[in-house]
Amino acid sequence: MIVRALEPADHRGWSAMRQQLWPEAGRDDAGDLARMHVPAVVMVADDGERLIGFAEATIRSVVDGLYFRPGGFLEGIWVAPKARRTGVATALLGGVTRWVRERGANAMGSDAMPDNRASIAWHKKHGFEIEAEVIKFVRELD
Ligand SMILES: CC(C)(COP(=O)(O)OP(=O)(O)OC[C@H]1O[C@@H](n2cnc3c(N)ncnc32)[C@H](O)[C@@H]1OP(=O)(O)O)[C@@H](O)C(=O)NCCC(=O)NCCS
Repeated sequence: MIVRALEPADHRGWSAMRQQLWPEAGRDDAGDLARMHVPAVVMVADDGERLIGFAEATIRSVVDGLYFRPGGFLEGIWVAPKARRTGVATALLGGVTRWVRERGANAMGSDAMPDNRASIAWHKKHGFEIEAEVIKFVRELD
């Protein structure tokens, strides 16, 4: 298994994995990232036959918990169920972390739903500390 940056030929596989992680999102995958208007990277895990995981990260000007310091942000990470607990997400995090460091940031944020025990355990294993548990609100404007 290798971790590498997304290549044009990966787009179908990447889109299928994104759909697993974010079923509510549209299928304009590259557009979703571009509309954030920040530096972004997609790393994929490739087992030689197919893609078995991906991670997306950005550089945000403000990261909750870093007190107005810019930093990397792990926007999403997903590993195919059969490949879990074998270090794939850890390898993806390594790739993303290198990319963040190369852009001059020395800290990273991330988030998870409060009931996602696997994700919380995984984040803690990699040194992420819980900054806050928040309720997010949204409202359409008429
Ligand atoms: C969270 C996720 C990315 C972890 O991927 P992974 O490749 O299995 O993780 P790794 O193999 O690199 O790391 C495994 C470590 O993470 C923690 N961990 C991962 N899954 C866990 C689980 N179900 N229960 C408890 N700890 C877990 C453990 O510390 C584990 O180490 P161990 O196997 O020695 O106990 C994967 O479970 C996943 O894709 N989940 C669905 C998508 C998702 O929730 N993404 C995160 C959104 S914030």
